Amino acid sequence: MSTVALIAAGGSGERLGASGPKAFVVLAGRPMLEWSLLLLREVCDRVVVAVPDGHVEAPDFVTGGSSRSASVRNALAAAPEATVAVVHDAARPLLEADLIRRCIASLEGFDGAIAAARVTDTVKEAAPDGRVVRSLDRDSLWAVQTPQVFRADVLRGALSVDDEKLASATDDASLIERTGGTVRVVEAPVTNMKVTTQLDLRVAEAILAERC
Ligand code: CTP
Ligand code: MG
Repeated sequence: MSTVALIAAGGSGERLGASGPKAFVVLAGRPMLEWSLLLLREVCDRVVVAVPDGHVEAPDFVTGGSSRSASVRNALAAAPEATVAVVHDAARPLLEADLIRRCIASLEGFDGAIAAARVTDTVKEAAPDGRVVRSLDRDSLWAVQTPQVFRADVLRGALSVDDEKLASATDDASLIERTGGTVRVVEAPVTNMKVTTQLDLRVAEAILAERC
């Protein structure tokens, strides 16, 4: 069995508005990517990172694709030995080893095991004009995150679709669900946040400062 982590770090980080790609923005003294890279190297056999064009500056760095899932596909293509794939976004630098291990352990009997948080807000469905259609039952709702751990052969199959389908997928698990694969959620700590905006960056910095 070979467990390979695939880090999606190929985005531009438009909403963060930094001068370069988000994964390389310095956060608590390190490029954001490094926080999860170092941790995944401890837990997995190998880590492959998909980065923006022009940033392939280390072994096991590959050029990302035009969408997030296309970047994951490029990273997976560089790891033909993988039997288990641990997909993670560089934009979640507060990852913890325990969560990675729990996702890997939860894969038993499933095609995918994905980090997720219980939804705390009440969620409503609304029509395009803003009219509320219905309220959803919060007890069964989860906001999904990364890491997302998959049987590598199932992920390879799910990613073998055209670029348009890949671009429409907001996570890799949904591609597997579409083809009838079985995916389970694994409850993540509340700190496993995604850095999207400058506000997120400040919150992440404060949490990391407390940890160090
Ligand atoms: N990502 C990627 N390849 C892409 C687009 C995104 O590997 N073509 C990665 C990002 O680097 C990030 C993760 O997917 O780690 C989640 O995406 P997001 O938070 O949306 O990051 P960006 O796409 O970089 O940000 P934005 O949407 O604000 O431009
Ligand atoms: Mg994006």
